[in-house]
Amino acid sequence: MLDSFFLPAEQGVHELDDLETVRKSFDWKQAEHQFSWHETGKINAAYEAIDRHTEKGSADKVALYYSDLSRDESYTFGEMKKLSNKAANVLKQKADVRKGDRVFIFMPRSPELYILFLGVIKAGAIVGPLFEAFMEGAVRDRLEDSEAKVLCTTPELLKRVPYQLLPHLKHIVLVGDGINEDEYFIDYKKAMDQADNDFLIEWMDREDGLILHYTSGSTGKPKGVLHVHEAMVQHAQTGRWVLDLKKDDVYWCTADPGWVTGTSYGVFAPWLNGVTNIVRGGRFSPSDWYQTIEKYGVTVWYSAPTAFRMLMSAGKVLAEKHNFSSLRHVLSVGEPLNPEVIRWGWQVFKKRIHDTWWMTETGAHMICNYPSMKIKAGSMGKPVPGITAAIVDDSGIELPPNTMGNLAIKKGWPSMMRAIWNNKEKYDSYFTSNGWYVSGDSAYMDEDGYFWFQGRVDDVIMTSGERIGPFEVESKLVEHPAVSEAGVIGIPDPIRGEIIKAFISLREGFEASEKLKEEIYHFVKNGLAAHAAPRKIDFKDKLPKTRSGKIMRRVLKAWELGLPTGDLSTLED
Ligand code: WTA
Repeated sequence: MLDSFFLPAEQGVHELDDLETVRKSFDWKQAEHQFSWHETGKINAAYEAIDRHTEKGSADKVALYYSDLSRDESYTFGEMKKLSNKAANVLKQKADVRKGDRVFIFMPRSPELYILFLGVIKAGAIVGPLFEAFMEGAVRDRLEDSEAKVLCTTPELLKRVPYQLLPHLKHIVLVGDGINEDEYFIDYKKAMDQADNDFLIEWMDREDGLILHYTSGSTGKPKGVLHVHEAMVQHAQTGRWVLDLKKDDVYWCTADPGWVTGTSYGVFAPWLNGVTNIVRGGRFSPSDWYQTIEKYGVTVWYSAPTAFRMLMSAGKVLAEKHNFSSLRHVLSVGEPLNPEVIRWGWQVFKKRIHDTWWMTETGAHMICNYPSMKIKAGSMGKPVPGITAAIVDDSGIELPPNTMGNLAIKKGWPSMMRAIWNNKEKYDSYFTSNGWYVSGDSAYMDEDGYFWFQGRVDDVIMTSGERIGPFEVESKLVEHPAVSEAGVIGIPDPIRGEIIKAFISLREGFEASEKLKEEIYHFVKNGLAAHAAPRKIDFKDKLPKTRSGKIMRRVLKAWELGLPTGDLSTLED
């Protein structure tokens, strides 16, 4: 077991002060009454996140503080309402967006990104956020699979959008300067100036599509995970239970909306609770992050182990130059949170770092540490009320405490994915016949009901908190003229959790060299995304394959880590 220690529960009043009692009596229906569908049966998550607060006296409260190296702005709930109305008008009138259409946003973090995000939802379309670091291949795969009708992007990023090859894409909204408008390209600024301040919100059913997040598995291309409007019930509730959000909080989630944390907890949870939300643009830098906490007086901060480890390695001296006394609650997600990081957080911020476990597919928090709960450092915590988690074997039979197995969740929670876009078979493969959603993570539960992460069951790589499917990287690698075959695995890294390593066999006539490694690295970086590029490459004459021709990543991993290769009976010759 990990080097574990305890941190005592926190003093003060929290909505989830009595976890076990709430768990026994709680039903998600109880969390619905705050929303307007309660009366009408219809709903719109953007209305609930923004407009509702303006009708309840919070029109002048700051909804968004945005800053980067060149901008420093704030927007009230009233302004966000107006701007997202305008954006919805632009989308509907100029880009012909209709209910259920997929509208993608491929932009660096900026106020416009959030305004468009809300506008898409108000117009009744399904919003598809794309991380700004994606290159052409990654962008194309996602827009093609989802048959996106409209894309919102910047002139800069447009260079990575092969729109001529995307027949379903009918319009592109460009956010930037010097845009030549025509039927196809819409100038965001100009259109926003002309758009009406009022918009008739598209009222949705709870099962209507809200957001499509592409994420990676161990096989195949990235898959589109679809969430519906009902998910907001869980975003709002866990915002209070887990993020401990209260009316006057200043909340900072460091995740980009290209990833699920940046939407479920970077948009929905704070705004559904009417809380002031901070977005910091630009790249990570330790001093910049510390300044952000100080400048805004951040009270609740949600980040990731990789970021904490980078802050740790930036040293005590830098940390001591800053005042963190505003922080009340600190959380982490995305990878195992090392006890060492918790210890550091306790020293530097004088706060407990609360680990939270969930996935793109689960849409919201599943297993977490709560203010009122003793933290066992190294454990992900306990299930959220309304969530039944267990460790099951491969046939879905529950295993006793302290036994490693598949981490599974009983099917049917509000933010559960409702589909894998265009792939019912894939969707069904997540569930056992007796109703468990099987996560792909292995874990065990201890005698006190705390869950402990052990690893991925499949070959999915988590690097710097980002989820990479090895197949996507391998497919890109074999597009390089020198590469004959490629197998990709994650290898341990002290800062990034894992880094990507590729094993490559070369085509006839190509010589292994450092220069070639570099070239291949850049090929993936420029073709797919920087975070998907292999930082380590080994050239091999031959890769281990099954008789059916599948590269055995398990053997690559064993090679790498100097472990026994296990059963090789299916290995080709
Ligand atoms: C991993 C991110 C250990 C896990 C919200 C999961 C974690 C995958 C934790 C989902 C945690 C997430 N401890 N591992 N607290 N949280 N993971 O879809 O392997 O990008 O299956 O969602 O991240 O990654 P995704």
